[in-house]
Amino acid sequence: MYASEKANLYLLARNEERLSLIKNDLMVRGASAVYTHPFDANDFESHKALMEEAFTTLGKVDVVLVAHGSLPIQEECNADSLKTITEMNTNGVSVVSILTHIANLMELQKSGNITVITSVAGDRGRQSNYVYGAAKGMVSTFLQGLSQRLSKSGVHVLDIKPGFVDTPMTVEFDKGALWAKPEKVAEIIKKRIEKKSNFSYAPAFWFFIMTIIKSVPRTIFDKVKL
Ligand SMILES: NC(=O)c1ccc[n+]([C@@H]2O[C@H](COP(=O)([O-])OP(=O)(O)OC[C@H]3O[C@@H](n4cnc5c(N)ncnc54)[C@H](OP(=O)(O)O)[C@@H]3O)[C@@H](O)[C@H]2O)c1
Repeated sequence: MYASEKANLYLLARNEERLSLIKNDLMVRGASAVYTHPFDANDFESHKALMEEAFTTLGKVDVVLVAHGSLPIQEECNADSLKTITEMNTNGVSVVSILTHIANLMELQKSGNITVITSVAGDRGRQSNYVYGAAKGMVSTFLQGLSQRLSKSGVHVLDIKPGFVDTPMTVEFDKGALWAKPEKVAEIIKKRIEKKSNFSYAPAFWFFIMTIIKSVPRTIFDKVKL
């Protein structure tokens, strides 16, 4: 969508071959320029230089979208604390790390939007995915504070909480009525950025589902298999 509006784009991801393919595709779709750089979310020491290089290359950054993540098998995390730590790093600590640098750069710029994809899983810990959920919940709480801090500098912070989305991450799952297509979630994200929202479920009906799930008392919730 941004490419068709002739945007300058800067993509960071770990698969250089796919980065190159996506770059070519975005140029065909109308992007004015597409820069790419390899990025491993868990190489924390590289983050500062990478973020600074992206901001220097683009000059002014209107929108940052943080969208990396991994969905671990909870049982594997239960059996191995190193697996748990890696997943917490990918879904939580790495996001906090890059946001720390991006926030400082945006604060200097005094404008822009920082959008992060978290998850409904961060709203309540469930036995089936609480490592992933805890990492996402940490990022959402971090974003609340960051939003308050950066509002003084004219920078907007947006927390997007999708429900089930049909992407490579969920390829093994059976799909049903609650599932959304990534194109639909992308539309919601773009609209929310334009409206300068701070927070949104995606799609919006997850607000009602999560309000109910969050209100179930712990004594009852512990007996439910979710
Ligand atoms: N799909 C859902 O139902 C759902 C629901 C709620 C929230 N989300 C969140 O939505 C965001 C996008 O996920 P998706 O559904 O689009 O799944 P996806 O297609 O698997 O995208 C996740 C991306 O994260 C990248 N990534 C993982 N670990 C990385 C690392 N260490 N360094 C750099 N990149 C790394 C992956 O790179 P590779 O391609 O190289 O593996 C992949 O491109 C994630 O934050 C996810 O948690 C998804």
